[in-house]
Amino acid sequence: MNAKAVPAGLVTRSGEAVPLLDLSRQYAPIRAEILAAIGQVCDSQHFILGEAVAEFEKSAAQFLGTSACIGCNSGTDALFLALAAAGIGAGDEVVTTAFSFFASASAIVRVGARPVFADIDLGTFNLDASAVEQMLDHRVRVKATMPVHLFGQCADMDKFCSIGKQRKLAIIEDAAQAFGATWRGRRAGALGDLGCFSFYPTKNLSAFGDAGCVTSNDEALAARVRLLRNHGMPRRYLHEEIGWNSRLDSIQAAVLSVKLKHLERWNRERQERARTYFNLFESAGLAGANSPIRLPQSSPPASHIYHQFTILAAARDELRKFLTERQIGSEIFYPIPIHRQPCFDYLGYGEGSLPKTEQAAREALSLPMFAEITQDEQQTVVAAIADFYS
Ligand SMILES: Cc1ncc(COP(=O)(O)O)c(C=O)c1O
Repeated sequence: MNAKAVPAGLVTRSGEAVPLLDLSRQYAPIRAEILAAIGQVCDSQHFILGEAVAEFEKSAAQFLGTSACIGCNSGTDALFLALAAAGIGAGDEVVTTAFSFFASASAIVRVGARPVFADIDLGTFNLDASAVEQMLDHRVRVKATMPVHLFGQCADMDKFCSIGKQRKLAIIEDAAQAFGATWRGRRAGALGDLGCFSFYPTKNLSAFGDAGCVTSNDEALAARVRLLRNHGMPRRYLHEEIGWNSRLDSIQAAVLSVKLKHLERWNRERQERARTYFNLFESAGLAGANSPIRLPQSSPPASHIYHQFTILAAARDELRKFLTERQIGSEIFYPIPIHRQPCFDYLGYGEGSLPKTEQAAREALSLPMFAEITQDEQQTVVAAIADFYS
């Protein structure tokens, strides 16, 4: 595959450079499988839903341990459909994190509800369940909480599920970055009432365009999502309610079915690459309490699949500039937390209202991480960071 086919900004660089992500290395060994699967869809001339989608939904549900998986257009739509299916709407509030991709909050607004932000745990970058619990005592309009399994690690689902049960709140997992991640051995997307995934091309399970899915073990909720993703239409031209067009394309489903067969290995390899980073940072003297960087932390019940390997770094912006000069890829997820986005001024969160979230936005830096990254490349990354702080 030539570099032209790789999304902008993700091209493989030559020589000593290390890309943040190189999709071409994942594609090359499965190219024949993928093209055959796409060929089958083309031969069938069935492009929307149909057999390829049903097949992917079945294998994804089996992989995740849910009774249902409903393919849709994107992770953003998955969140929106899940919230709508759970009956969240005007006058309701949903508690979530402001340290996430924008869609975690915009989906709440799209169903007519109001996002409420609680602070994060700086070690895991995930929504802090205790902070959520504290705010619930004086917020009667909250109907759901949406923990985001950020960077490939589940939020504290023991606490979120118990909060949901005690207070009768829907738990909607934003698992867009965590396909295959587990909490106490159960997979993300099978832990709350509804799970939402994105298959955006940079995700650990990725399509060749926009795609997503919603998962559930609740048959009634799953049936509602299925209805809503296709114009509220249980059968042709009968519309029980006003839904949307958020169907999954057959070509995307065919690509996803091929990739799903490799995902467990890819996730394992990501974990091995993460261990390599930990060892290299330790050898470079950058793993201790006095280090200018803080390595990502895992909470013991979680099996982190390192969708991102994200550190907290002193002088983060200068470090990133230094890495760029050495042609080493990195990314800031997320430079402006959601509560400080101009479109959310009306929610009234001032500077300093979520101190840990804001610290993460100032200091977080994601380093090159993908299953196929080489040890030499990882050494280059760590050596450059060590040089910067020396
Ligand atoms: C945490 C999170 N939620 C939601 C989304 C939205 O997914 P999509 O881009 O497929 O709409 C993303 C993807 O970027 C994400 O990372």
